[in-house]
Amino acid sequence: MKQLKSTKSLTITAIGVLAAAVLVISCATVKRVIAPPPIIPGAKFVGMDQCTACHESIVKNFKLTQHSRLEIPGEGDRVGFAGGCESCHGPGSLHVDAGGGRGKFIVNPKKEPESCFQCHLDKKAEFHLQYHHPLIEGKMSCTSCHDPHGANINTPKGAFVARVNAQCAQCHREQTKPHVFEHEAVREGCVTCHQVHGSINPKMLTERDNNLCLKCHAQVAGLSGQVFIGQMPHAGFGPSQFLQRGGCYSAGCHTAVHGSDLNSHLRY
Ligand code: HEC
Ligand code: HEC
Ligand code: HEC
Ligand code: HEC
Ligand code: HEC
Ligand code: HEC
Ligand code: HEC
Repeated sequence: MKQLKSTKSLTITAIGVLAAAVLVISCATVKRVIAPPPIIPGAKFVGMDQCTACHESIVKNFKLTQHSRLEIPGEGDRVGFAGGCESCHGPGSLHVDAGGGRGKFIVNPKKEPESCFQCHLDKKAEFHLQYHHPLIEGKMSCTSCHDPHGANINTPKGAFVARVNAQCAQCHREQTKPHVFEHEAVREGCVTCHQVHGSINPKMLTERDNNLCLKCHAQVAGLSGQVFIGQMPHAGFGPSQFLQRGGCYSAGCHTAVHGSDLNSHLRY
């Protein structure tokens, strides 16, 4: 019997590896086949309907989400598994048999981001870049910014506006508050300048130094070697050799990149 059991869990692992190897992702509107869910020793997949009795509202909302369309085909021990809750929480039979409960044979990805990383491997890599949100360090989780059961996973829990900036406002008031002189770039979303999972650039910026700003503010060559940015001469113009002083924001010029209450040129 003992022998049998360990062969079985080996089979589960083997199927898991196989499923990962034949990873297929088709277009967003159809059902998907993806990587295997987390493994809970001895547990089997029971399907989403088994969760309804005790987690009714989550099941109801969840049916509207992108993740509810994920599918892993039934095969061997996976018979009956159709994606759904168990793709993140792992097979639920032991949890159900135990009558549910915290820490009872079920994965909670808030504490175990590995459950998300199994499918979002690229995010794992990003969180290991030099500048990253402290998630691997256990100071926050995917759910600090993503509501896993909500109709829009990119909205923080309980928020009604699907604006990316609202996610960040929970923790970064200084950058998200309204300003007298707004920087239009911020209205487009914090992610126009920040790669929020992680980046090779300080402050998780998408680009380094002036490159970030020059993406939108083109340098225009004027007469006799002048360089204009935003219709202001920035180089080759007697006293206003601004570009020689250093970076757009790091040299003490446009330091108020998120908006200013004092100066329309984004200065403090
Ligand atoms: C995309 C992955 C994912 C899927 C799919 C998913 N969940 Fe979750 N679930 C999470 C995460 C992440 C948390 C932690 C949320 C938190 O604490 O903020 C969680 C937490 C929970 C909790 C604990 C809530 C609490 O109050 O702590 C329950 C219960 C739950 N999920 C049930 C379900 C059910 C039922 C389904 C299917 C209808 C489901 N989940 C589908 C990711 C998922
Ligand atoms: C017999 C009732 C029952 C069933 C069926 C049930 N659960 Fe639970 N579950 C609970 C209770 C009670 C808790 C404790 C937390 C709470 O009260 O919300 C819980 C907690 C959880 C948690 C959080 C665990 C933690 O450690 O934080 C998750 C995730 C979860 N359930 C997922 C599921 C999934 C997925 C299914 C379907 C496969 C399911 N549950 C079926 C009763 C149940
Ligand atoms: C079983 C595999 C699987 C698991 C586990 C999983 N995801 Fe996903 N997730 C996907 C797939 C597939 C997509 C769709 C990607 C696409 O459309 O290109 C997706 C999409 C997303 C999106 C983007 C939605 C959008 O609007 O484009 C977010 C955010 C996300 N997942 C977060 C999470 C988080 C957080 C967890 C863990 C709580 C998680 N995922 C667990 C497979 C998974
Ligand atoms: C600090 C907030 C934050 C945290 C923490 C976070 N995300 Fe995100 N995530 C975002 C934002 C903002 C976007 C939208 C990015 C964009 O539009 O460029 C996003 C987009 C995504 C997407 C879809 C777009 C893409 O880049 O592929 C996936 C998948 C995703 N996140 C997964 C995760 C997973 C998995 C975790 C936890 C391991 C996580 N995120 C943690 C803020 C966060
Ligand atoms: C749950 C809280 C939380 C949320 C939500 C959050 N952050 Fe953060 N953020 C942090 C923490 C904690 C740090 C690390 C601070 C430190 O190391 O001193 C951080 C650091 C940063 C940094 C780097 C600061 C530095 O000094 O290097 C940037 C940029 C940033 N966050 C942008 C964002 C953006 C953009 C969003 C929205 C997509 C966001 N954050 C959402 C908590 C959060
Ligand atoms: C136009 C590009 C741009 C946009 C849009 C932007 N940021 Fe920044 N952010 C920067 C730059 C550049 C820095 C580095 C400033 C410095 O080092 O002086 C920075 C730094 C930060 C820091 C670190 C602050 C510190 O004191 O070290 C946080 C936190 C932050 N941004 C959050 C946000 C949030 C939240 C949003 C969206 C509301 C946002 N940013 C939108 C360019 C941008
Ligand atoms: C995503 C595009 C984008 C990025 C990146 C961007 N900006 Fe802007 N910025 C704008 C737009 C749009 C305006 C408003 C229209 C205008 O004045 O050109 C603006 C306005 C400004 C202004 C006010 C112009 C005035 O009237 O004096 C300054 C200063 C400025 N940006 C500096 C910066 C700096 C410094 C950076 C790099 C940290 C930066 N911008 C990055 C789009 C961007």
